[in-house]
Amino acid sequence: MKKINIAEILRMKNEERKITCITAYDYTSAALVGRSGIDLILVGDSASMVVLGYQTTIPVGIDEMILFSKAVTRGNKGSLIVGDMPFMSYQASDEDAVRNGGKFVKEGGVDAVKIEGGIKMKSRVEALTNAKIPVMGHVGLMPQTSPLWSGYRVQGRTDKTAKEVIKDAIAIEEAGAFAVVLEMVTSEVAKIITEKLSIPTIGIGSGPDCDGQIVVFHDILGLYDKFTPKFIKKYANLGEEIQKSLESYRDEVINGKFPAEENTFHMKDHKTNPPLKRRIIKNTR
Ligand code: KIV
Repeated sequence: MKKINIAEILRMKNEERKITCITAYDYTSAALVGRSGIDLILVGDSASMVVLGYQTTIPVGIDEMILFSKAVTRGNKGSLIVGDMPFMSYQASDEDAVRNGGKFVKEGGVDAVKIEGGIKMKSRVEALTNAKIPVMGHVGLMPQTSPLWSGYRVQGRTDKTAKEVIKDAIAIEEAGAFAVVLEMVTSEVAKIITEKLSIPTIGIGSGPDCDGQIVVFHDILGLYDKFTPKFIKKYANLGEEIQKSLESYRDEVINGKFPAEENTFHMKDHKTNPPLKRRIIKNTR
């Protein structure tokens, strides 16, 4: 499979081809994503919740994100891989953004990084792109900071908030980002932004008119049961399947059905005389 690059992602917008994106955090899932032909993997800070079991995306750190990225980049050689910069790895200064962004690319092997924030994060996007690190923006709902302020709310329902989201997206494009995630933005506002920007918009809970869509791996496959956002469609119920399989395994071990003959190794001459047990015990004395 040919590796997708930033130029191809930009071309897809120009040619009105939808961009498919999903999160992944380990080797096996990244390989599955690669075989499905999805264009872009985000090593998302949602790992904080769906992999590490925290309540929010706030606790995960840069070194954990780099570890996940190393596994993902080993498992997938075709998709564009974007590393999600975790909370406080870039908020304090442009220097922090470049240092941690550089670490993500050098050690994690990602092709680009994502940061949350609009106008207020414009200089971070500029600093990263000046350092030649491609950046994906993220505006609308920003999960790293929304739990600290207002909670998880749909963005752009009123004229005032719609204008704010639009201005944020424009600022991110002006700063040099190659794409921007729109999270939980009303579909009307997402459409306006998509038509206005020359870089692709990647929607999550932002309606059908974005240039691409992104989802969390565990959400669409039914692997995370804490809650399922309204904008998610479940394509499988793997959590239930896995649960059933684990219960069957446990039952079969208890009742002696597993391992069966086909799962068992034997000595070359285990069927010959003298009886095996007596022979081995005799030879080991
Ligand atoms: O971390 C994440 O999962 C995200 C979403 C945009 C998918 O940031």
